[in-house]
Amino acid sequence: MHKTLQNDLQAENELLRSELRVAREAAEITADLVVKQFEQTELEKHRYQEAAANLEGFKLTLDQTSDCVFMFDPQTYLFTYANQGGMIHTGYSEEELFSMSLADLSPDFNHAKLSEILGPLMEDPSESVFFTTTHQMKNGVDVPVEIFLQYISPEGVQGRFFTIVRNISKRLLEEKEKEQMQAKLLHTQKLESVGALAAGIAHEINTPIQYIGANLNFLGEAFSDINELLKRCSELLLALQTEEDLEPNIHSINECIEDIDLPYLQEEIPAAIGQANEGVEKVSSLVLAMKEFSHPGNKQKEQIDINRTIKTTVQVARNEWKYVADVKLDLAPDLPLIHCHANEIGQVILNLLVNAAQSIKERLDKAPNSPKGSIAISTNGIEDKIEIQIADNGKGIPPEILNKIFDPFFTTKDVGKGTGQGLAIARDVVQNKHNGMLSAVSEKGKGAVFTIHLPIFDSPAE
Ligand SMILES: Nc1ncnc2c1ncn2[C@@H]1O[C@H](COP(=O)(O)OP(=O)(O)OP(=O)(O)O)[C@@H](O)[C@H]1O
Ligand SMILES: [Mg+2]
Repeated sequence: MHKTLQNDLQAENELLRSELRVAREAAEITADLVVKQFEQTELEKHRYQEAAANLEGFKLTLDQTSDCVFMFDPQTYLFTYANQGGMIHTGYSEEELFSMSLADLSPDFNHAKLSEILGPLMEDPSESVFFTTTHQMKNGVDVPVEIFLQYISPEGVQGRFFTIVRNISKRLLEEKEKEQMQAKLLHTQKLESVGALAAGIAHEINTPIQYIGANLNFLGEAFSDINELLKRCSELLLALQTEEDLEPNIHSINECIEDIDLPYLQEEIPAAIGQANEGVEKVSSLVLAMKEFSHPGNKQKEQIDINRTIKTTVQVARNEWKYVADVKLDLAPDLPLIHCHANEIGQVILNLLVNAAQSIKERLDKAPNSPKGSIAISTNGIEDKIEIQIADNGKGIPPEILNKIFDPFFTTKDVGKGTGQGLAIARDVVQNKHNGMLSAVSEKGKGAVFTIHLPIFDSPAE
């Protein structure tokens, strides 16, 4: 009995122990689960806090950018987000902006016009557009802006339009100031060239003027000789009318014809008149060329015959090249007129021509007995542009400075001889104002070739 009781108690004990073990294990598992659950919640909370902080950081970053960032609804086009810059730029509060669209900011746009731009963007989210327009601020002031627009549609997030708006008034102002500066520089250089050329022109005019003078002197003397003959002829006429003896008069006329060498005068007077006329033509064409060259020109572009511009420039600059080189012109006869600032293109040709002559002079100075150099200027029509080439056989341009020669103020010439502005101005005129191209190539010891391409048709660059 005692044994049975003992066994029963033992069994019960074991049962209790195993139940206890089960309970402990269950408690441990539950505690584990609770801890895991807690950790999971903490992690999620942490992740959420991190995401919120990221979002806040992202928003703060966008607020710090000087550009305006907007997002707007693809259906209503109403803004759904505006960074701080967007509010400062427009002058509207976030609340006000949320009831507005881009069309309300831009007098150039209405809803329909906006749809024309936005429609294709929604069809292809990889596409974006970039354009300039004007935005009207809340205070009524118009501001020039540059706009970037794209439709963004990340997976699982509703699509929206994203736009960056940049106020470009400062940039436009700077560009305008730069343009004015360059115009001033060009004008100064023009005046300098006209001044420098004037001395050469005076020299050029001097030769024809001298032979016009010599011929006029000769004509004056010839006239007094002929006048004497005419006087004696009149006396003969009078003697004829009064039936006097004509013999002395005839003798006097013959004597005079011999004295004045009438056959010589008959041959030389027309020649002298011809030479004087030639001289007058030379002077007037020089004066005309100088007048054309120094003409301030129209503010607007005009249709010009580039061959004529080249001929005029070569003529006015004759004194700059004639002692060191011959200029050969090979100008295509059938070139169309081109739309450009004649005056400025003339200045470009002059700058290149003077450089060519100076480069030849530098070469000749080192080899004094060499023959004159040569400058070849050619024009050609190539598709929708005109090509002008100015080639010289001067000292050439070393490869290490070839990419610097167009820099403002880059010069290899002595102080007082060059300011290094010629090519900088030439490139600005050709590339920025005429949408063309100006480049140079040079092979050591073989001189340099400068090539200009100018579009024939009106270019957007003004
Ligand atoms: N045809 C050429 N042959 C050789 N070197 C040239 C030629 N044209 C220009 N260069 C080089 O390019 C430099 C810059 O030319 P750029 O016309 O701009 O200024 P510059 O002639 O020195 O001075 P500026 O034209 O103001 O009187 C020259 O100093 C010269 O070294
Ligand atoms: Mg120069």
